[in-house]
Amino acid sequence: MANILIFDSGMGGLSVYRELNQTLSGHQYLYLFDNACFPYGELTESRLVARVVELFEAFVARYPIDIAIIACNTASTYVLPALRQRLTIPVVGVVPAIKPAAEYSRQLQAASTLTSKPGHIGLLATPGTVSRRYTADLIEHFAADLQVSLLGTTELVKMAEDKLSGLPIDMQRLYKVLTPWLGEQGPDTLVLGCTHFPLLADEISQCLPDAKLIDSGAAIARRVTSLLAEEEDKGECSAQQGRLFCTRLTKKARLQAGAFSKEGFGALECFTP
Ligand code: DGL
Repeated sequence: MANILIFDSGMGGLSVYRELNQTLSGHQYLYLFDNACFPYGELTESRLVARVVELFEAFVARYPIDIAIIACNTASTYVLPALRQRLTIPVVGVVPAIKPAAEYSRQLQAASTLTSKPGHIGLLATPGTVSRRYTADLIEHFAADLQVSLLGTTELVKMAEDKLSGLPIDMQRLYKVLTPWLGEQGPDTLVLGCTHFPLLADEISQCLPDAKLIDSGAAIARRVTSLLAEEEDKGECSAQQGRLFCTRLTKKARLQAGAFSKEGFGALECFTP
């Protein structure tokens, strides 16, 4: 059995946990969300890297973690090199699925007899992720022949948290955020480049019914599975209750913990570095 840490600024990592738990169920999951600094998409890069490194160093010093998953595109697209330098355990990051989206979009165009236009990929992510050098490099490397449009939003991050906390989704607000992509000019393939957004997949599909949604969850589950297979003595055991940590005990965090308990996590604990 391995101790697997899933980390995000908020509840978005649940979309990754769901994928992991399907394939890797007999392990001890620890989920840490940094609600004291949420939302990450609005932090400067220097603040972000300092915060995540500080948090991780303290967390792995206190708990025996075998593998850490940064279930946050906003953090992964900037802090992975610094984290890997400081930690000795494997660190898996989640970054926007531009490559599979580009492949899908090209196939669509190849199969279509109606148009000779290049495919169109949309990247829906946080303001931080859409402005990263790392993201620009991914696009240049894997999708240079396609039309790529970027949309950075924190509003949808908050909407996803509200949904999981049992609050209704304001579809008018969602349509408004997605306005640039409504109608004929919208993307054929949409990258959900924030782990919060698969939690809103049904609602996003309602607004953009013709777009294929792609996220990184299943790819991360495959990567973690292969890393664990390389480790010795990490067999599975009977299902463990997950441990849930926030960085500030608030009324909202307690509400969020309710959603986590439905997924098999125990009582909310507070971790401060
Ligand atoms: N879930 C995070 C991501 O994948 C970020 C949300 C935030 O802005 O805090 O980017």
